[in-house]
Amino acid sequence: MSRNLELFERGKQVIPGGVNSPVRAFGQVGGTPRFVKRAEGAYFWDADDKRYLDYVGSWGPAILGHAHPDVVRAVQEAASGGLSFGAPTEGEVLIAEEICKLLPSVEQVRLVSSGTEATMSAIRLARGFTGRDLIVKFEGCYHGHSDSLLVKAGSGLLTFGNPSSGGVPADCTKHTLVLQYNDPQQLADTFRELGDKIACVILEPVAGNMNLVQPTPAFVQALRGLTEQYGAVLIYDEVMTGFRVALECAQGLHGIKPDLTTLGKVVGGGMPLAAFGGRADIMASIAPLGNVYQAGTLSGNPLSVAAGLATLKLIQQPGFHATLGARTARLAAGFAQAARSAGVTMSTDSVGGMFGFYFSAAAPKSYAEATRCDIDAFKRFFHAMLDEGVYLAPSAYEAGFTSIAHTDELIEDTIAAAGRALARI
Ligand SMILES: Cc1ncc(COP(=O)(O)O)c(C=O)c1O
Repeated sequence: MSRNLELFERGKQVIPGGVNSPVRAFGQVGGTPRFVKRAEGAYFWDADDKRYLDYVGSWGPAILGHAHPDVVRAVQEAASGGLSFGAPTEGEVLIAEEICKLLPSVEQVRLVSSGTEATMSAIRLARGFTGRDLIVKFEGCYHGHSDSLLVKAGSGLLTFGNPSSGGVPADCTKHTLVLQYNDPQQLADTFRELGDKIACVILEPVAGNMNLVQPTPAFVQALRGLTEQYGAVLIYDEVMTGFRVALECAQGLHGIKPDLTTLGKVVGGGMPLAAFGGRADIMASIAPLGNVYQAGTLSGNPLSVAAGLATLKLIQQPGFHATLGARTARLAAGFAQAARSAGVTMSTDSVGGMFGFYFSAAAPKSYAEATRCDIDAFKRFFHAMLDEGVYLAPSAYEAGFTSIAHTDELIEDTIAAAGRALARI
């Protein structure tokens, strides 16, 4: 029996589904999850010592590749000085200064430990600041697993969402409106009807949790214009896109200044660190300055801060994002080319270090379009690539991630592997 399978079987005895986060279980694609033994650069090795070229990168954080020596050293040095204090440190000030420097929309920032905490806290803050209850999110955008965000669209155009998870009372989602991504008219209609009750609009500014879906300029303009007009807080959830699609994040690419921004993944360099920040007048509502409560025993953990600071320093090297973006675009173009040669219907897209490939004729603009791709073709391709030693996200609805350790040569190897895989699926 393979060691991966043995660990999975043993894991299932003591961990629900054998995994500590559901998508790791290979539920959509079937088969045995790969248990990671170690990782370095663009690769990881599984429990059977098979090597994979990794395009998941811990779902985004590993923008430098795995185990970058500078980041590892920073964490080791921090660890030798103590693991957690529950009192402020210099590193927290340094990373907050760095985030505020890189993102002009962020005047103040609070550190937390996960993206879920960041978005949950940003929403509480938006509600506390505006004194309003309603929040707007978009179908297919994922913002972590807090109750008010685990919601699916209702049946009508302007109906409130229903819980998308067991254990979430309908009362917790009755203030959440779920609209369609890239539908500025629906957003305008919603604001016309309920604008004075809407605390905030939260979105993934490039969606990566329904495969990769880019916003249209008209949608971006409507988001900023309408929230400003009605006094609602615009929250850019850049947990995934932050420092990955560009150094100035998605908001820089869009030329937009959101009121609040949430960060995670890259900002922690692979350690548990996330953040929310934005306008100083809004941030002043957070405890201890204001009456919106938010706290955390491990917030601003010194090891996480050390990893984050080392990572932020390295991604500011000249040309970092230009190189990452060009290689990722080449990967996407190469997949499309390989599909054409194999006679398989596939379209692709990329932004910075994120990419999407879709078994459909065109890149989707909404959740409805994203779910219209050929899932069976995706499953066959996923397993064929696994056989080739290429690890893609085990779900058709997740974006792919590259790192700077994915060299031009490795990208060409991946395209060649995709060509072989597509020819036999
Ligand atoms: C856009 C976005 N927001 C929030 C989260 C939640 O972050 P975490 O898994 O760190 O709680 C994720 C996780 O993938 C995400 O992609």
